[in-house]
Amino acid sequence: MSQPKLAVVGGRTWGHMHLRALSQFARDGHGELAALVDLDTDILEQRAVEFGMATYSDLEAMLDEVQPDGVTIATPDHLHRDIAVTCLERGIHVLVEKPMDVTVDGCRQMIRSADDNGCLLQVDFMKRKDPYHVDLEQRIRNGQLGDVQYGYSWMEDRIEVPRDWLPAWVSSSDPAWFLGVHVFDLIRWLVRSDVTAVSASASTGKLVSIGIDTYDAVQVKLVFDSGASFAVDVAWHLPDANEAVVNQGVKVVGKEGWMIVDSQDRGARGCLSGPVGAAVGTESRSDGASMFTPNLGLFLQRTDLWNNPVYAGYGIESIQDFAFNVSFLTNGGAIDELGSYPSGRDGLEATKITTAVHDSIEQGGALVHLERD
Ligand SMILES: NC(=O)c1ccc[n+]([C@@H]2O[C@H](COP(=O)([O-])OP(=O)(O)OC[C@H]3O[C@@H](n4cnc5c(N)ncnc54)[C@H](O)[C@@H]3O)[C@@H](O)[C@H]2O)c1
Repeated sequence: MSQPKLAVVGGRTWGHMHLRALSQFARDGHGELAALVDLDTDILEQRAVEFGMATYSDLEAMLDEVQPDGVTIATPDHLHRDIAVTCLERGIHVLVEKPMDVTVDGCRQMIRSADDNGCLLQVDFMKRKDPYHVDLEQRIRNGQLGDVQYGYSWMEDRIEVPRDWLPAWVSSSDPAWFLGVHVFDLIRWLVRSDVTAVSASASTGKLVSIGIDTYDAVQVKLVFDSGASFAVDVAWHLPDANEAVVNQGVKVVGKEGWMIVDSQDRGARGCLSGPVGAAVGTESRSDGASMFTPNLGLFLQRTDLWNNPVYAGYGIESIQDFAFNVSFLTNGGAIDELGSYPSGRDGLEATKITTAVHDSIEQGGALVHLERD
């Protein structure tokens, strides 16, 4: 069995998660983490020490020398398209971070390029791997909730995300692009129906007051082809003292039952005198206070007998899912034989919804109808 060679483009915050996932894939004997491309030489140096792969600041040079079977992309949103198309045109499979692209045309171009070159194009919609969402999806699919009629989903980050995590590109993002796409894809996947119309409004003021020119929060109503309707609130201005870096959940109501998944408070809470540390997203508490609700389902680091790190969680699984798909394809499998995965079409639909959300905000909350592809 041949083992796929994999490379990562963009190695800072979420790219670090890609490197952990693919280094674990390699350590488990499934393939090779061959290279990282980034423009920041400090990131390249730090990640080379931690993971030991080759590093490049030039994508084309990496592709020429390493010839990877699959590339994962964790650069700022607006840079996904060109990097993906460069890889796809060389016949390389691609996992792209969400949002797939910030334009509908860009998503369509990426899908065409994947189709023309016989490549897999997968999007890292990791919420589909959260075990509680998997359980909810299965209950809906088994008919336990009956036909889904309506629901509500919320995803709200602490203010450190726009303030400290994304200094280079925060003003070209907002809660709809950074968080909304996750939720829109999750609900589409749960309901198994496309969104036909959207209305939205936005709140501003808090981030503007600290010099960041973007929305604090976005409120959305989604209307589905199936007749279901969902309300969605996304925000990224929660106070530093919020217990978790992200407060999130989803409620689904059907004709025969309902279910709520609270993905912030999974039943474990704590309060420490010093910084929380360890759990992802809790390291950067700036106020020294330490109430916390860990989300170890997303990311958990253990050590093995030889003191190597072992990475687990649905954030890791979502990225490794692509690596396993590439392995299947490089060993003679076909794309249409792959199981369910978040595809380019799913990425396109999430971007169409997010674009319509912005159109609606600009039109004072008007109902915006989505084009069908
Ligand atoms: N799946 C998730 O839950 C999740 C979570 C956080 C972020 N994201 C997504 O991941 C992507 C990256 O976000 P982030 O928070 O890691 O951003 P970041 O700003 O922390 O890191 C981006 C990295 O890309 C590098 N980069 C920029 N241009 C490049 C280029 N042309 N070639 C190579 N490298 C380049 C930067 O130097 C930086 O190291 C975004 O699309 C974001 O929306 C996804």
